[in-house]
Amino acid sequence: MKKIIEAVNYIKNQIKDFTPEIGIILGSGLGALPEDYECIKIPYSVIPNFQKSSVEGHKGQLCFCEINGRKLLMMQGRYHFYEGYTMAQITFPIKVMKYLGIKFLIITNAAGAVNQKNSIGDIMLITDHINMMGDNPLKGKNIDELGVRFPDMSDIYKKDLREKIISACKKSNTELKQGVYMAMPGPSYETPAEVKMANLVGADAIGMSTVPEAIVANYCGIKVIGLSCITNYAAGVSDKKLSHKEVIETTKQTEEKFKSLIKNIIKEL
Ligand code: HPA
Repeated sequence: MKKIIEAVNYIKNQIKDFTPEIGIILGSGLGALPEDYECIKIPYSVIPNFQKSSVEGHKGQLCFCEINGRKLLMMQGRYHFYEGYTMAQITFPIKVMKYLGIKFLIITNAAGAVNQKNSIGDIMLITDHINMMGDNPLKGKNIDELGVRFPDMSDIYKKDLREKIISACKKSNTELKQGVYMAMPGPSYETPAEVKMANLVGADAIGMSTVPEAIVANYCGIKVIGLSCITNYAAGVSDKKLSHKEVIETTKQTEEKFKSLIKNIIKEL
């Protein structure tokens, strides 16, 4: 709690009377949204108890701005398990968000399509997840101020919000897929056999993030929306080999669609 409060106090001091209510985690290659707005920017490196973020396509700063009359906190860059961060380090910003007043969190990521229901360039609204990271961010002593020891996980990606988003997308003729996201530890991509397993157990997309943050947000009472940008077919779904370059290229091509979807979602929250 002491570390959380230190970070919260530092940030509040920078943003003064700006109280964000919606958080957005911008995934690999999806970090361009804040560029269109006037933002207060705070690099992770200066915030007490924040880690530095290192992956290509991730900037590593908090951006505070207003879109469609709503006050937002965007994480431009996130911490990944495969970078060697602990689950506690990955999810520390979510706990800070809670104390900054965040009520909703939109978590975005780049993901591989596990089946042919998803195509490259699609955006998938996450309906649920499967945690295959082999770890849990709530492991260890519980912080009772944040949430209960054994949190319910039946409705992390809030059904009522998803229904609103889906009907808004239908009205505006915006295509939006839906499905289950499986989180792997990475950094190696999956083998075809692992992707086949993911498909068999009900996953539609696969990636290396999102789940730790979603678990902690749900635990501390923040309503979560999850969006996967389908950047490639996962191993074995097509004959093509996987590369981070392709992932980033697809996110760049999807950028405009993604930005306009997020702006529409903000209106529904
Ligand atoms: N697998 C895991 N993570 C990913 C993928 C994938 O196919 N694409 C983008 N992130």
